[in-house]
Amino acid sequence: MNDYTPQPDDKFSFGLWTVGWQGVDVFGPASRPLLDPVAATYKLAELGAAAVTFHDDDLLPDDGARDATLDRFTKALADTGLVVEMVTTNLFSHPVFKEGGFTANNREVRRYALAKVLRNIDLAASLGAQTFVLWGGREGAEHGASKNVRAALDRYVESLDLLCAYVKEQGYPMRFALEPKPNEPRGDILLPTLGHALALISELEHPDLVGLNPEVGHEEMASLNFAHGIAQALWHGKLFHVDLNGQHGPRFDQDLRFGAGNLRGAFWTVDTLLGSGTENRYDGYVHFDFKPPRAEAMDGVWDSARSCMRNYLILRDKVQAFRADPEVAAALAAAAVPELDLPTLAEGESLADLREATYDVQGLAERSVAMEALDQLAMEHLLGVR
Ligand code: GCO
Ligand code: MN
Ligand code: MN
Repeated sequence: MNDYTPQPDDKFSFGLWTVGWQGVDVFGPASRPLLDPVAATYKLAELGAAAVTFHDDDLLPDDGARDATLDRFTKALADTGLVVEMVTTNLFSHPVFKEGGFTANNREVRRYALAKVLRNIDLAASLGAQTFVLWGGREGAEHGASKNVRAALDRYVESLDLLCAYVKEQGYPMRFALEPKPNEPRGDILLPTLGHALALISELEHPDLVGLNPEVGHEEMASLNFAHGIAQALWHGKLFHVDLNGQHGPRFDQDLRFGAGNLRGAFWTVDTLLGSGTENRYDGYVHFDFKPPRAEAMDGVWDSARSCMRNYLILRDKVQAFRADPEVAAALAAAAVPELDLPTLAEGESLADLREATYDVQGLAERSVAMEALDQLAMEHLLGVR
């Protein structure tokens, strides 16, 4: 029996801010002690992670401890073999960003935000990170007239164009990944869904350098289907990174451990990352962005981190068994799933041919689609009875 021990090939990665979250929320202060990010790095390596990620502020506070912390951190990477696969900039905690970063109405704030990101890109490059995530949590508004959305999108594009030009000029092998979220902390955040972000990317000077970092909970907060979202991101060649976690439907951003909340959604998420039986799979790091519940003490923090990986491995097993099951192959055929690969117009056929053909509309309306049977097979794999 598989003991679901994470291996380096599994490419599991954790944000240092996840296990480092002290439980501060709008109703109360920290419920857990400060966790040294370097100690967290050693512990995540021990649990089986292959990589870590961080915001500038998670690791390097803007004070004299900066160099010493960086030395300790690079030693931890060398000692453990962990890599830094992604870096991101905190443009949301400090009150200077209370009204946005790249899209703040105040121009000085926008300039400071860009400067902070540029410094952090240099750090990311020096640590070998090839993905740079941009989550614009404060890029948004609570009031209608307070934000000129068109101007804000112009400024978003301006910032992204400048950042892309910078990494090209520096020769950094780095790509940017936008992380959509519908709301929280702002009442309404710009680029609220994957679709909004994809549309903005197509307006950039270097669209090839910018993709997506979808987060499970953020799509599900908007009642969207995460597996469909990442399938479309893969289809566009834009799934540059991923934030796996759990969410119970549309409510505040829960950031549960992966697998908690919408478990069936997690099954299809893993299936999609693995290519849904095709070669079009995600091959990047399997990154967890969750928050160990505030009620947990440190033992619960490590339990939840361990469980993110374990749930992914269990679901991967189930998905692979589902895809390898001959009854599933038959059920897929019965549901005409492979037929969707056929172009609607046959080669050499014209629209006139299509218009003139005769259709058995009644027969088609009455046909079996056999999708419940197919879905039940997935359910039974997930429930462990197959
Ligand atoms: C959230 C966000 C953040 C970002 C992270 C990257 O839960 O609202 O996911 O955690 O992913 O800060 O900048
Ligand atoms: Mn989140
Ligand atoms: Mn995230």
